[in-house]
Amino acid sequence: MAQLYSSSDLILSDKYAFSNFAPPPRFGETNFAAYIPQDPSQGIASDRVSTFVSEALSSANKKQQRTGFFGRKKTAPQGQGLYLDGGFGVGKTHLLASAYNAFDNPAKAYMSFQELVYTIGALGKEAAQTELGQYKLICIDEFELDDPGNTLIVKTFLAHAFSLGNYVITTSNTPPAAQGQGRFNANDFKREIQSIAERFEMLHIDGPDYRKRQSLSTLVNDETLSRLANTDTRNRRFTLSHSELKTVLEQMHPIRYSNILNQIDVLYLNNLEAVPDQNSALRFVHFIDKLYDMKIGFCASGIISLEDIFDASYRNNAYAKKHYRCLSRLSELIEEAQE
Ligand SMILES: Nc1ncnc2c1ncn2[C@@H]1O[C@H](COP(=O)(O)OP(=O)(O)OP(=O)(O)O)[C@@H](O)[C@H]1O
Ligand SMILES: [Mg+2]
Repeated sequence: MAQLYSSSDLILSDKYAFSNFAPPPRFGETNFAAYIPQDPSQGIASDRVSTFVSEALSSANKKQQRTGFFGRKKTAPQGQGLYLDGGFGVGKTHLLASAYNAFDNPAKAYMSFQELVYTIGALGKEAAQTELGQYKLICIDEFELDDPGNTLIVKTFLAHAFSLGNYVITTSNTPPAAQGQGRFNANDFKREIQSIAERFEMLHIDGPDYRKRQSLSTLVNDETLSRLANTDTRNRRFTLSHSELKTVLEQMHPIRYSNILNQIDVLYLNNLEAVPDQNSALRFVHFIDKLYDMKIGFCASGIISLEDIFDASYRNNAYAKKHYRCLSRLSELIEEAQE
């Protein structure tokens, strides 16, 4: 059996690996046929996303035919937006990835909202508009305006994409008009937020958390964790304590967490404790979100109950949804690890 790696084996690189603009491993093969509606709104959403993809596809194909000299139109048709809003685990990302996978044209891109903002920042506005403007369908997961800067960046980006006639689908836990609330003085940016919101057709998805968390899983004990780690046959098995992970996460910008995760097949985290403050909590949440999407194995030991890892003082505020979503994902990961 290959060795177990530890914190000191991780290479902490500061290089940003650009997204490949495709769904992450957990959603690489996801499709509409595998989506089994658990609520009437889910059937409606699935049908609408699927039709939207057909509309985007026929618009993209028409445009390709029109590229000839005589075919050029004076004014390009405006693009369209679709906004999937709903609670955790109702299958928003499932539908988003299905849309990407069903779009039978290479001019498509899939990214998280964070990746979008980071890409625009790293490339600069003009280059990003050129690079991203070529995609006839853009899928953006977890749309979240959390500061005035990204509100303006995204507003400009979307206006440009729509002016090119491109189609955009996005998911969020927050309806468009409530974006920014509690994060920054959203009232000052009402006009911007409104102008983003009005470009999207809204689809609200209800239903239970498909991850079926009636109650959260419990953390395993240390013996179970080391048994699982020692019998696991994956190659790059890492074992870290929660405090070692915290030190690693503090050393880099969250957008670079994929550099760490790219080195890991499965992570066994021991002694998971309450996360001391909001800043550490948001780092941890981002790390788990990324790990979940990348379908990296995960299990954790600890003596507290899962929901106590985030303190009520910062769990129940503007970031509450992020924290609860993270608990739902952790719960699913811990169960997967014991299957
Ligand atoms: N109706 C469904 N039929 C089949 N699989 C589903 C359904 N809804 C969700 N799933 C599966 O459950 C898991 C969670 O769904 P998904 O990540 O798409 O939810 P989400 O709405 O994006 O949640 P979050 O708010 O946490 O991002 C995924 O593995 C997804 O494929
Ligand atoms: Mg999602």
